[in-house]
Amino acid sequence: MRLPALPKRYHAASIWALYALGLLPAAWTFYLGATGQLVGNPVKIFEHLLGEWALRFLILTLLISPIRDIFGINWVRYRRALGLLAFWYVAMHFLAYMILDKRLALDVIAEDIFKRWFITIGMAAFVVLIPLALTSNRWSIRKLGAGWVRLHRLIYPIAAAGALHYCLSVKVIGPEQLIYAGIIAVLIGWRLVRPRFMARKRGRRPQYGKLATEIPRAD
Ligand code: HEM
Repeated sequence: MRLPALPKRYHAASIWALYALGLLPAAWTFYLGATGQLVGNPVKIFEHLLGEWALRFLILTLLISPIRDIFGINWVRYRRALGLLAFWYVAMHFLAYMILDKRLALDVIAEDIFKRWFITIGMAAFVVLIPLALTSNRWSIRKLGAGWVRLHRLIYPIAAAGALHYCLSVKVIGPEQLIYAGIIAVLIGWRLVRPRFMARKRGRRPQYGKLATEIPRAD
């Protein structure tokens, strides 16, 4: 069964709608925080919600490719928006940690980054995510060519680091951490078996390292 295709004239509007929809959880979290509705430890809850949304958007970004490969549904036009939303949620999570949690005490923050493993891993993921966000535009795709694809494959280790960061941030790993880590592990596993799957689907030999088909349109 095929989903009806969205007419091309609505593509741009649907992408903007996704940005607006994607920022709603942040707006809602800010609203709850500002109106004192985050009960218990508001700063921690605030940090927690933004961190979880960052992971969700990372997962949605990684899902676009298998959805196209397995079901033939092409939502590649939404991948950039989902990746950028993941970046903005990580940035907000980081700012909540720096400003609300640590009150900009740079010595404490530096000590955390260098001494607490889960924060070191989260920070590394954030730092690597920055060039991906900066090159998520048509000009960079044109300029970097196949290098752009190699750079953007870093989204897989970033998601793995995000999941590891989540697991290590808690004293006891529970079902929530396992679900996120499990989904990300499956998506990384999919990336590894994808060349074989695609080769079988097309009835050809696997074409490892063939990048051209993956470069998004720069026009
Ligand atoms: C890809 C990057 C990142 C992702 C996906 C991510 C996601 C998450 C998630 C889902 C949690 C669990 C929230 C909880 O249960 O409390 C968390 C916790 C935490 N994250 Fe991140 N994070 C990232 C980067 C960072 C960075 C850059 C920092 C700061 C340098 C940071 C600081 C923290 C802290 C301090 C906690 C624990 C909060 C607590 O004590 O409950 N994270 N993160």
